[in-house]
Amino acid sequence: MTKETFKRLMLVASSGMALVFSFATDHATSADSLTPSATLHSASTPDADAANGNEAHLWAAFIQQAQPTATPTAAPVAAASQTTAPTAEQKYKNIQVLKGLPAAQLPALMHLFSTSLGVRCDHCHVRNANNEMEWDKDDKPDKKTARKMIQMTIDLNKAAFNNRTEVSCYTCHQGHDHPLSIPPLPAAIVPAEMPRPALTGMPAPEQILEQYVQAVGGKEAIAKVTSRHLKGQYLPQRGGQVAVDVLLAGDKFSSTVTTPQGVIQRILNGTKGWLLDPKEGRELDSEELITVRDMAEAFDTLKLKEPFPKMTFGGKDKINEREVVILRGALPDKRRVRLFFDTASGLLLRKVIYNNTIVGPDPVQFDFDDYQAVDGIKVPFTVRISYTEPGFSGTRKFTEIKHNVAVDETKFAMPKK
Ligand code: HEC
Ligand code: HEC
Repeated sequence: MTKETFKRLMLVASSGMALVFSFATDHATSADSLTPSATLHSASTPDADAANGNEAHLWAAFIQQAQPTATPTAAPVAAASQTTAPTAEQKYKNIQVLKGLPAAQLPALMHLFSTSLGVRCDHCHVRNANNEMEWDKDDKPDKKTARKMIQMTIDLNKAAFNNRTEVSCYTCHQGHDHPLSIPPLPAAIVPAEMPRPALTGMPAPEQILEQYVQAVGGKEAIAKVTSRHLKGQYLPQRGGQVAVDVLLAGDKFSSTVTTPQGVIQRILNGTKGWLLDPKEGRELDSEELITVRDMAEAFDTLKLKEPFPKMTFGGKDKINEREVVILRGALPDKRRVRLFFDTASGLLLRKVIYNNTIVGPDPVQFDFDDYQAVDGIKVPFTVRISYTEPGFSGTRKFTEIKHNVAVDETKFAMPKK
């Protein structure tokens, strides 16, 4: 495979921003490292470079892969904001069941399928003679089965769960392409009574949120922080390391990552956002905006407006030997969220946001570690973001965090390119 191909790889880098850049290569890259939108925009040749052991040729393919951008969101929000956004059948060539789905949500859904079944894209999609993915072709029986499965999952949730997406591909598949329908023998002996962790004696959810605010440094100290500048390294789950520079100021956010190919930047400014890379500058779509916004918030103190949002107990658990109490609730855009607070320190160790898709929740997990005091505020110096597609996931380790830095507003302007 030495055919010269031009491809666009979606990168996750920097503050975890999804980054897109294009480059020419004579080695194709792994199909799974390309998002559909990326590959569809170009006649690219996703090849199994991972399988061929060609990763070394594509430095880029190992810092990132696709973008975590197209995370499906709560249907009502998505529907309201996307009246003009193209649907899957408008953007793609051969959509039979996912009609009406906002096109921007299709990539995330495909990753959810792959992860739920523990397979790669080419389990359902075929390649042509040049080893290029042909996403619209129906030559593999698994793609046809998947169509039936999507319909079945939608029908099942409608019939049995009043249209709530309780059953997803993962409910049955659990990372396998052939789910088990018969329990294995010898069967495990189930204890007569599973002790439930007692939540009696626990402070009320509002008190846990209050304790968090205190643990971070208190309302006043938090309010004094108007901007935050973070510098460090981004370590993708698949390996590699790049320099990261993140700037937060109110509803503005900028993340810059320096790769051997050049500088790649993600910007949020109010309701808009942009991507700038060595090849192009473009606006983020509605799904990308949500993903980038979620990431930006992972570098900020938990935004809690008083009165605290209504949360309920979600139980107790342990994260790395540390006992946590879980609170459950919903974000203003109605997506479900779980917060895991360290019972000893009161600090937030984990946040999980559940993006709604038509076939079940697509979680994004944020893990916070290595809290250190900066100007009287406790800030996590390590932030790990995990997506259902492991290629998107990675850890940011910051070495320098400063507050109330001079903010150059031009950094948040639409990139000129
Ligand atoms: C379990 C099977 C399965 C897996 C795995 C899968 N897909 Fe799909 N894909 C489908 C099905 C089914 C459709 C068509 C949906 C429809 O007809 O509504 C589709 C459609 C698509 C389309 C639209 C093609 C067109 O023009 O009509 C793209 C692009 C796509 N998939 C990309 C991907 C990518 C990228 C991956 C890997 C991250 C992936 N798919 C993994 C089953 C799968
Ligand atoms: C209610 C349980 C259930 C749900 C939900 C479910 N599946 Fe399946 N799926 C099965 C079973 C059972 C099989 C058959 C396994 C076998 O043949 O060994 C199967 C088979 C498949 C196959 C063929 C397996 C292969 O590799 O040959 C594909 C592809 C598939 N499912 C995709 C999906 C997708 C995508 C979703 C979510 C939209 C989904 N399934 C949801 C139970 C389920």
